[in-house]
Amino acid sequence: MTMKWSQWALVAGALAIPAMVNAMPPTPAMLSNACAGCHGVHGASAGPSMPSLSNQSKVAIVEAMKKFKSGERPSTVMGRLAKGYSDADFEAMGEFFAKQKIHFTQQTLDAAKVAKGAALQEKNCQRCHLEDGKEGKDDSPVMASQWLPYMQIQMDQYLSGKRKMPEKMAEKVKPLSKEELDALLHFYASVKK
Ligand code: HEC
Ligand code: HEC
Repeated sequence: MTMKWSQWALVAGALAIPAMVNAMPPTPAMLSNACAGCHGVHGASAGPSMPSLSNQSKVAIVEAMKKFKSGERPSTVMGRLAKGYSDADFEAMGEFFAKQKIHFTQQTLDAAKVAKGAALQEKNCQRCHLEDGKEGKDDSPVMASQWLPYMQIQMDQYLSGKRKMPEKMAEKVKPLSKEELDALLHFYASVKK
């Protein structure tokens, strides 16, 4: 039996359906599932060397992903991971995490360092890390309640030149001692509300 053109069209149509399903873009929540193993469900990271992403500034996430992908920002895992995604994916993931409710970490902090950092942050860092680090500004990340070990690793990378510091941030960071900088990170880690 030979097939008529109309029957061929039906077969071709049936084959085209799965291809169309695959071509549909994944939702931001689907994309962000791939991040949950390390950054926690909804971006509430449970591991001290991995940053929480919940309530993070969207621009900060997108910029970080682009820098990981290009290799400009050093990383253990993110560089390799970021290569699997497009700029549009970064926008979608940034939007998703920025909307998640802030996660307050539970960490043991040195109270004297927290107090010292509180006194230093307004003059030195608040201009960009707004509201005690609770708000990001453009590409400046939110830092309130972020994991201290993660921030310490980042500060070491900045000071060693492996991660490039924004010029205006460097102007504020360079005159401070290591102890003062560590106190500042303690302060940000302690901010709860
Ligand atoms: C295997 C664990 C792992 C997975 C999976 C993972 N991350 Fe990460 N992420 C890290 C670590 C560790 C860092 C710190 C940089 C580094 O060492 O790679 C980080 C850092 C980041 C940062 C920088 C945050 C900041 O405050 O500057 C962003 C943004 C980020 N990850 C987004 C994502 C997104 C989006 C996904 C999902 C596509 C994802 N990560 C999946 C482990 C992971
Ligand atoms: C002129 C604006 C500006 C000032 C002032 C500033 N920062 Fe930043 N900070 C940024 C930006 C922008 C980034 C992200 C840039 C990048 O991609 O490395 C950042 C990132 C950071 C990070 C890494 C956070 C993360 O999630 O990876 C730390 C830690 C940090 N700043 C600490 C400080 C401290 C401490 C001060 C005060 C001494 C300070 N900053 C002052 C703009 C600023």
